[in-house]
Amino acid sequence: MAIRNIREIGDEVLKKTCKEVKEMTPRTRQLIDDMLDTMYEANGVGLAACQVGILKRIVVIDVTGEDPYVLVNPRMLESGGEQTGNEACLSVPGKTGVVTRPDYVKIMAYDSDLQPFELEATELLARAICHELEHLDGHLYVERVEGELMDMEEE
Ligand code: NI
Repeated sequence: MAIRNIREIGDEVLKKTCKEVKEMTPRTRQLIDDMLDTMYEANGVGLAACQVGILKRIVVIDVTGEDPYVLVNPRMLESGGEQTGNEACLSVPGKTGVVTRPDYVKIMAYDSDLQPFELEATELLARAICHELEHLDGHLYVERVEGELMDMEEE
């Protein structure tokens, strides 16, 4: 396990545009493994490479805790519908806010062997994909929050 430091809001790296991955190197594979470890350790459902300070177009997502997706150079193909609900981000600790997102997305991406695939998603997975893809272009969900950003309730 290698846990990387998660960058938080205010860190300039979160505002940068990430670069396409052109080849899969041992170093990039290690990054992907570390991103998964870091996401699980933080109890997150998604993490983008820029959140650990690396400006590559790589996202990991797991909304169930047992079904991770690795998305390299992901691209939105279609989106539709609408869902409104609470969102949070590992880079904005302790906060949550209401965001409206598409309820359906279809994307294309490459896996960790740089093989292309398509993925259709609804509900929470669709929301997570939209959230993470925006990280790759330097955006945080707080820019989209309807009303106030709220403190997360202690459990
Ligand atoms: Ni996030």
